[in-house]
Amino acid sequence: MRVVIQENYEKMCKWAAGYIAGKINAHGTDRPFVLGLPTGSSPLGVYAELIRMNKAGAVSFRNVVTFNMDEYLGLPREHDQSYWYFMWSNFFDHIDIPKENVNILDGMTGDPEGECARYEAKIAACGGIDLFMGGIGVDGHLAFNEPFTSLTSRTGVRALTTDTRIVNSRFFGNDPEAVPAKALSVGIGTVMDSREVLVLINGHNKARAMAATVEGGVSQKWTCSALQLHPAAIIACDEAACGELKVDTYRYFLDIEKDERL
Ligand code: GLP
Repeated sequence: MRVVIQENYEKMCKWAAGYIAGKINAHGTDRPFVLGLPTGSSPLGVYAELIRMNKAGAVSFRNVVTFNMDEYLGLPREHDQSYWYFMWSNFFDHIDIPKENVNILDGMTGDPEGECARYEAKIAACGGIDLFMGGIGVDGHLAFNEPFTSLTSRTGVRALTTDTRIVNSRFFGNDPEAVPAKALSVGIGTVMDSREVLVLINGHNKARAMAATVEGGVSQKWTCSALQLHPAAIIACDEAACGELKVDTYRYFLDIEKDERL
């Protein structure tokens, strides 16, 4: 696992956007570049930077196919807290991606299991995911894979913990009951099948999860810790997220990744 520590959130986002754009630009044109994407506040700065780069002609999304990580169950697309709405308003509406290249789980499906199976089949039909960008929750959840979700899980229906509903209630008028109780989410196994994974971790409130991801044992208690078994996982983080790392760990990654420091 690589851990790229940047001084602050802005630099973390700039580095991550540059990394993603570099991968897209280096990809051949024989098949599309398949990019997995998250929602949440963590990736907002990355999307803003990718939009800027796209407008400046530094990267194009014409040959990119995307798959989003998750979606609330029971929220229509038009709901301003649906992940469909988030992705279009914060990213897709501002870049040159063909509409038909965007894949987001349908939170209003009448057949959740079938929807999830179709999603997995479509990822496979696209040749698998080249790079999955992700974020994590304070409890270490990756996508909506809460603690104790199987580390081999596939795309499926997930029940959200009370803690996650409380954390996400900041977008729902501070009412945890207004946060949907379930979501559709790719599995940890789905993420682990990607050729590369890039997870953003920023802020003091993620420091515990960060330590569990990087230094803890691989455990279903911290589903993000599965990344230790991925052959090409990168954590891009800010200084604040490193607060619970051992000094040795912190210094090791600063040293070995010094050329990446912006
Ligand atoms: C939600 C999403 C996750 C996301 C997490 C962290 O629960 N399902 O995919 O990583 O929130 O969000 P934030 O980046 O806002 O802290």
